[in-house]
Amino acid sequence: MKSSTQTILAHTQVPRHIAVIMDGNGRWAKKRFLPRVMGHKRGLDTLENMVRYCVEKGVQYLTVFAFSTENWRRPAGEVSFLMGLFLQALEKQVQRLHEHNMRLRIIGSRERFSPEIVAGIEAAEKLTAENTGLTLSIAADYGGRWDILQAANRLLAEGAEAISEEALNHYLMLGDAPEPDLFIRTGGETRISNFLLWQMAYAELYFTDTLWPDFDDAALDAAFASFRSRERRFGRTSEQLPIEQQRG
Ligand code: IPE
Ligand code: IPE
Ligand code: MG
Repeated sequence: MKSSTQTILAHTQVPRHIAVIMDGNGRWAKKRFLPRVMGHKRGLDTLENMVRYCVEKGVQYLTVFAFSTENWRRPAGEVSFLMGLFLQALEKQVQRLHEHNMRLRIIGSRERFSPEIVAGIEAAEKLTAENTGLTLSIAADYGGRWDILQAANRLLAEGAEAISEEALNHYLMLGDAPEPDLFIRTGGETRISNFLLWQMAYAELYFTDTLWPDFDDAALDAAFASFRSRERRFGRTSEQLPIEQQRG
């Protein structure tokens, strides 16, 4: 019997793959009468901390939304600040990820990035490609619809006549990772904003009002606790699940 998602995971105490929409940077800054971009700067520190904590907890894949296809619509000054921050992170932080055996991937379209950023991305991915620890995927100029279309177009270019789930999945960004178990969105909005549309078919959704720069270890613990309380049925009934996976 085939499932409509990839491998259905046994319920684990700690999610194997977490996907995060890091939202609320602008509001965090505004509350402090700071320019919005200061929120992005603090948000990068939050990400660093979260990566450390995920490694400590045994999470294997962390995928974060840093810049959406739609974010190009923001004021030019904010976009260029974000690009500068991205480049700086690529130059300064990749070595540390590498020393900690982490693999870094940037998912999304690279067409609109500057040559410096593209070179930084390629160097970072190459440097960390063989690492076996946590895989950190940064979604930048990413959109869920874009992802599905680029995979379909690659299949068409190969001469495929029909598209199967497996074949499409193979060409999707994250095609070799397990599907996200837990999706977290900070900042109070309860929407997906064109993030991992295909891959999140059965993710457990967690929304919090905490603004991204304030999202600390305790906030992540709260998300983990919520995750542990969920009964993941993947279409089955509760009684069909192994006893240790039943909740309530
Ligand atoms: C998320 O924070 C970061 C990016 C989209 C780059 P926002 O910048 O969206 O913060 P809010 O939603 O305006 O508070
Ligand atoms: C979504 O955040 C993308 C990122 C966090 C990078 P936005 O704050 O741009 O999302 P919407 O457009 O308000 O839904
Ligand atoms: Mg926002």
